Amino acid sequence: MSFPPGAIRDAIIEYLTVVASGATTEEIMGAVRVRLGEVPSSSIRSYLNLNTPTRFERLCRGRYCLREHVGEYKGEFVDRPIFPSETLGGARAFNADCFEWLAVQAERSIHAIVTDPPYGLVEYTEKETIKLRNGKGGIWRIPPAFDGHQRAPLPRFTVLDEADKVRLYKFFMKFGVLAKRILVPGGNVVIASNPLLSHIVSSAMVEAGFELRGYLARQVMTMRGGDRPKNAHEEFSDVSVMPRSQWEPWVVLRAPLEGRVQDNLRKWRTGGFRRISADRPFGDLIRSHPTPSSEKKIAPHPSLKPQSFMRHLVRAVLPLGDGIIVDPFMGAGSTLAAANAVGYRSIGVELDEIFFDMAKSAIPLLANLKVRNDD
Ligand SMILES: C[S@@+](CC[C@H](N)C(=O)[O-])C[C@H]1O[C@@H](n2cnc3c(N)ncnc32)[C@H](O)[C@@H]1O
Repeated sequence: MSFPPGAIRDAIIEYLTVVASGATTEEIMGAVRVRLGEVPSSSIRSYLNLNTPTRFERLCRGRYCLREHVGEYKGEFVDRPIFPSETLGGARAFNADCFEWLAVQAERSIHAIVTDPPYGLVEYTEKETIKLRNGKGGIWRIPPAFDGHQRAPLPRFTVLDEADKVRLYKFFMKFGVLAKRILVPGGNVVIASNPLLSHIVSSAMVEAGFELRGYLARQVMTMRGGDRPKNAHEEFSDVSVMPRSQWEPWVVLRAPLEGRVQDNLRKWRTGGFRRISADRPFGDLIRSHPTPSSEKKIAPHPSLKPQSFMRHLVRAVLPLGDGIIVDPFMGAGSTLAAANAVGYRSIGVELDEIFFDMAKSAIPLLANLKVRNDD
């Protein structure tokens, strides 16, 4: 594999610019590979050796920093974690806390984010996932069987109180600040949401520095809403507390452009959406369906998104079909599988080891599925 002139140099320098305390050779190699794919260790080592001490300082055995950062770090050299990872075609999956992962990635190294975060903030905690796996108690409700089909567990968004909403806002602010640093100008961010919470996501992300570019409507009948008042459903048999949800909002944001759209497209390869065809732009109303059982069998994750929708979305977020997509809350890897299916490079991060293992086996299978396209 050959790289554009200066690509390895730029990747090393950008990474070391962010980590002022320096980094181990292993970490530098990891960061360069996140950005460029499989780069031989020998190329990275020889670049470091040749440019030390002119450009880099060797702080101790196997640890380097940029020359201008020498003396900046006063504490002990604590190694940052090397996150376990797996390469699956053009995708790389990490088993890590995405907040820690995002914090150590090189600035302006990613071209788009497509993700479906844990909204309740509690439903994917260790305590709650144990309850989910035991099939008993916790925040997970098991909806009643419907049309003869047993439904999978769902998180209960409506149980969020005001304090939870403040926590959610802070969660997206923190996420937004970290995400903005690693995205190139004009990079798209598309976040799965729901009608009760999308305003919190968009306002926090705007405060973190993103531009709100609207919403995508994934047209799908969910099991949410449309219920009669609790404990009074006979008395108010003609009333629904809220509309039965027939769409799922995905918040669309963009990292601020550098110059005009055309300048940004030339320099960073981002700043718009890829058209479906010459006479058909990507639209914001996307017909979809619940995740098919064939996909859930491959990846039994409670929030698995369907491949047909994910491929349609993932293809569109890189306007020139070029760059790296990140899903920081990867789950069972539906975004990475979609990226593999459309021929893009991608990275996913998943905190839970069981879901990470599920993603490792599911991504190649989901990516190879032939799926029906609703749109
Ligand atoms: C709503 S699910 C995403 C499911 C995904 N859309 C799919 O199709 O498989 C959110 C995922 O984020 C993971 N998660 C929660 N907190 C995380 C964190 N701090 N870093 C990385 N992953 C996290 C959860 O374990 C869960 O699998």
